[in-house]
Amino acid sequence: MTQTPMHARTSTDGPGLPELHRYLASLPVGERDQLTAQLATFSDADRRSLGVSEPQLVEYDYRVDDIDGTIPAELDGTLYRNGPGRWQDHSGRPLHHLFDGDGMLSAFTIADGAVHFKNRYVRTNHYLGKTGRYHLGTAAPGGMKANIGRLPPNLANTNVVEHAGRLYALWEGGPPTEIDPQTLDTVGIRRFGGELRWVGSYSAHPCFCPRTGEMFNFGVEFIPRAHLRIYRTDPAGRLKHFRSARLPYVAMVHDFALTQSHLVFVVSPIIPDALPIVLGRKPMGDAMRYRPERGSVFVLVPRDGGKIRTIEYDAVLMFHLSNAYDDDGDTVVDAITYDDGRLLQRLSRFHVAPLDDAPSTFMRFRITRTGRVHAEALSELPGEFPRHNEAFEGRHHRYAYLNTRHHLASFYDSITRLDLSDASAAIYTTPEAGNSFCEPVFAAKPGAAAEDDGWVLSVEYQARTHTSRLVILDAADIAAGPVATANLTHHIPQGFHGSFVPRPR
Ligand SMILES: [Fe+2]
Repeated sequence: MTQTPMHARTSTDGPGLPELHRYLASLPVGERDQLTAQLATFSDADRRSLGVSEPQLVEYDYRVDDIDGTIPAELDGTLYRNGPGRWQDHSGRPLHHLFDGDGMLSAFTIADGAVHFKNRYVRTNHYLGKTGRYHLGTAAPGGMKANIGRLPPNLANTNVVEHAGRLYALWEGGPPTEIDPQTLDTVGIRRFGGELRWVGSYSAHPCFCPRTGEMFNFGVEFIPRAHLRIYRTDPAGRLKHFRSARLPYVAMVHDFALTQSHLVFVVSPIIPDALPIVLGRKPMGDAMRYRPERGSVFVLVPRDGGKIRTIEYDAVLMFHLSNAYDDDGDTVVDAITYDDGRLLQRLSRFHVAPLDDAPSTFMRFRITRTGRVHAEALSELPGEFPRHNEAFEGRHHRYAYLNTRHHLASFYDSITRLDLSDASAAIYTTPEAGNSFCEPVFAAKPGAAAEDDGWVLSVEYQARTHTSRLVILDAADIAAGPVATANLTHHIPQGFHGSFVPRPR
């Protein structure tokens, strides 16, 4: 790709936000005035922080020479990250919804105390301009006729995971896109010999069993009625349909968790208004509603083939689960939950949407063997993107790492370790107002025995210089701040999820 960088800024006053202004200019006058007025209420730091949503149109490949601190010698592998790199279609038309952007992969390869950076867009049909102009949260121009019966394009923009030696860019509404782990070149859509049939929904949040080497995942399907179609991939990379589980209603299901004995689903009543979608009056993302009166269900799917249990419960609004484990016949699962459905509107108009009025809670749910559910709030810190040491996936664990928000309205300015044994928090907040972090990923020290023996890797957006940097923290001492940073010469947008893949030994 040969585009010129949107920004070659070295100033210290923050980004100029050209894409944000282009987006606002594309809106109908009433909506533009409303959002412009909202923007005027932002603090200087909050306004600067919006630079993280400016696009990165350049694809880089270079050794990072600007290092602060010492990269740990034992940290040896690649942090892959995925997220929208631009919120515009191939014609340059601005897009509304946070989930509408083309997937852009980043790779920070760490070896011998040095860091190499590379980013590359996934060459989806959408990126290449081969799909229509309908998006999850942006209608195609041309009214109802242009929008009736459309499905959103596979943007491969949500997560990037490795299994059985292959790397996949994931998007929950369709099959995975295989990526070359060295070059980040797009290999192509993978349907695993036709096992991912038709639409091929395959969530962006597979779970990996450290005991068996299996990868579990699911897709939501609606025909003949709403259900979870669950897949199991063996350690050699062979994917097979494993089970299916009925859903009580058509719902968005984004994530699940794994214990030693079960797959655990928490189904939120995020339900699309079918009629406006079917008639082409609204894109799918704008028609999603939180319907608490429909309640939630916990779906427990035994890994050994036993009977699936569905437990009805009060409505729980969540996107991301943390870890889960078996406890003397009970199932324990942690999640980030939201108080109400305002978040959905925020996502659909994310460019200037503050999240601080969509409070979240780190919750623990215990589903007893008799089918009762006990809920306990572990932390009221507003947070998202919970991760843990994946060697403890499905087992009783002590620590969760997540982003929390303390000063900013729209992005997460802190990395937090929750000690789940006593609900205490160790927090590192960026000292620079306007900076923000993406999801913290745990990287274990080779041969580690203790759960927190390793590092937490994140990417910090630095608003004043409109650049990003890899941040490496000691997982046992988060509050001490970074042990090292690798400073890029440009920014990368916020992004959603990623994985640390140790170098094969
Ligand atoms: Fe997610």
